[in-house]
Amino acid sequence: MTVDRGNNGFVQVRYGLGGQTETIKASEAISGGHYPGVFETEGGRVRWRYALAESTAVFGLGETVRGMNKRGYIYESFSTDDPVHTPGKRALYAAHNFFAVVGESGFSVYIDFPGKVIFDIGFENRDEIVVEVMGSDCDFYFFEGRLKETTEAFRALIGLSYTPPKWAFGYQQSRWSYPDESAVEAIADQFEAHDIPCDAIYLDIDYMERFKDFTIDKNAFPNFKAFVEKMKTRGIKLVPIIDAGVKVESGYSVYETGIQGGFFCTDAEGHPFEAAVWPGLVHFPDFMNPKARQWFGSCYHELLEQGIEGFWNDMNEPAIFYTPKGLQEAIDYVKAQEGENLDIYSFFEMKDKMAQISNAQRDYREMMHRIGEKKVSHYEVHNLYGYMMSRSADEGFRRFDANRRYLLIGRSSHIGMAKHAGIWTGDNQSWWEHLKLNIQMMPGLQMAGFLYAGADTGGFGDHTGADLMIRWMQFSLFTPLFRNHSAMGTRRQEPWAFDEKTLAVMRDIIRLRYAFVPYLYSEYMKANLGHQLLHAPLAYEYEGEDAVHTEDQLLFGESLMLAPIYEQNAIGRSVFVPERMAYLKLRRYEDLEKTAPKILSLGHHYTKAGLDEIPLFIRENHLFVLSEPASNIPAMTQSALTVIGFVTDRASYELLDDDGYSRAFERGGLKKTRFAVEKTSDGKYKTHVDTNDAGIGSVTFYIIDAEGKVSIIRQESPLYA
Ligand code: GLC
Repeated sequence: MTVDRGNNGFVQVRYGLGGQTETIKASEAISGGHYPGVFETEGGRVRWRYALAESTAVFGLGETVRGMNKRGYIYESFSTDDPVHTPGKRALYAAHNFFAVVGESGFSVYIDFPGKVIFDIGFENRDEIVVEVMGSDCDFYFFEGRLKETTEAFRALIGLSYTPPKWAFGYQQSRWSYPDESAVEAIADQFEAHDIPCDAIYLDIDYMERFKDFTIDKNAFPNFKAFVEKMKTRGIKLVPIIDAGVKVESGYSVYETGIQGGFFCTDAEGHPFEAAVWPGLVHFPDFMNPKARQWFGSCYHELLEQGIEGFWNDMNEPAIFYTPKGLQEAIDYVKAQEGENLDIYSFFEMKDKMAQISNAQRDYREMMHRIGEKKVSHYEVHNLYGYMMSRSADEGFRRFDANRRYLLIGRSSHIGMAKHAGIWTGDNQSWWEHLKLNIQMMPGLQMAGFLYAGADTGGFGDHTGADLMIRWMQFSLFTPLFRNHSAMGTRRQEPWAFDEKTLAVMRDIIRLRYAFVPYLYSEYMKANLGHQLLHAPLAYEYEGEDAVHTEDQLLFGESLMLAPIYEQNAIGRSVFVPERMAYLKLRRYEDLEKTAPKILSLGHHYTKAGLDEIPLFIRENHLFVLSEPASNIPAMTQSALTVIGFVTDRASYELLDDDGYSRAFERGGLKKTRFAVEKTSDGKYKTHVDTNDAGIGSVTFYIIDAEGKVSIIRQESPLYA
């Protein structure tokens, strides 16, 4: 074991022990090159223990079940295709090995390890964290400080996060499945007919020819390129799905080139590893092999050439329905039971035999990667698979066009992948509990670097109710990825699938989303470039027990707080207000002027918000910016902006923007507009707008004072720097 002090303030503990047993006691403080807690190694595993004080909270672990404070349960990093995210599930699709300890001595921990890690956060012993790494070749990084500082330090270490093109901040419609051109066009027609903005329609597995990656079903889409163009002229981008498994079929070019190049994972004998997913038998690209990554990444070019600008990478844990060997064994077992009088144990054993053939750890152990000259069992590096698939795609995009941003979301993810792609949180259900889970997961995902993230709005599995749909949309309005996606066979979730009243409310929410895009995009840029959270727990900014233990509210960028409603039939909720704030109930962009704000003092409140009202809280002496909605992002202009603020003294806000598609923002290519409001001695407000963005037109300020009174000030022409 070696301990290093990194140059930006973290302590790195490196293991490469290979099985000795030893216990290392360390100082309780990080300072001076020490780290908190105690390390033990046993049987080739590394274990780290840390004693928790009663009031300490633990944030992070990204895509995991349960609350924002992870204390009280046990979680696993072992990417799993499990669509039933009930509270007992220890692992979901992602492996986000980062968490922050918020207590008397604050610090964060990142565990760099590609295999299974178990996080017991006060489960076996209420007052102890035990992290168990199922191997010894791992690094622990410790960052000392408060939640905000340590998150920033960690994010600075892993680098800038993925930023999609600006159109990907628009509303996106999806469903498994829109089978052909006419179905897709019918969706676009409905958006137009109902005057609802939309930027993208997703293509699920049915657009392919029998689920073969990088193919198009010619019957369903006779001229795909022309269709992609036609939809673009209507303002809609098509986003096709790509699955990890490549169908085994001679003559299919992706399969053939994969075989010729030796780009697939193998079994122990060196034959391509065979498993079944959607198309039946597939081989899995060996994404650990740089040449295979390059090959697969270049396969996306075929679709990019047809005008596609975004993809979703799926089934890349990788999900395995069965392997021929696993299936045969199960069938043999079941057959052997024929004619038996099965008691409870033997009956359940037989049933389980079938269920256990999917995503079997044995199969993961038998699948091999080539890493350099070495063969490595997939099991050892399991959590990197989805990451490397997205890396392969992103690198392929960069070879296609080095300066253009493409939309890319992946399902399975690992820390480090955030450089290449965003994520969606997989197959949730149309349950109120999963709306709450979505809210509570956002900060953890962003701590792990995944700023471009969101859940299947309305829920993927099960049937959504209109009220759940509305409340979920009211939250997704504020998440970078706002995609309505649902599974085949469930109730349809497009806005017009509901009654007229619900449709109207959904339209208003989507239009409000577009109004919020300037603020959302600007805060996204700041969060990315400054390594911050876009959605943060209150403990990120505020001290004290109440802030630390608020589980269902989020700071949204620098000016706003969200307290979403996530319970059926609720007409309001309890809110902890961590400083004086102005409370708004938003309904429609057009009704902003009618929104009567209420000033709330620090403390606990009950705030009401009917089903068509979105609760929003503005921090004191802060501003945010809205613009007029349009039918899609490219159609939006900044010619009429609205600045809303709660100002008792003075406030300013810097709005960032860029061209929306290039990587120039990484090198400072940003448009900046500064809005300032100052309260003068006669109780009036002075406003100021400074910009280097020639697109900024008139600005209307709605300024709320300490009594909740609104002053409206219109400024026709900003000052150009
Ligand atoms: C997986 C994905 C889901 C998709 C489905 C069919 O379950 O998570 O989003 O719709 O596969 O492709």
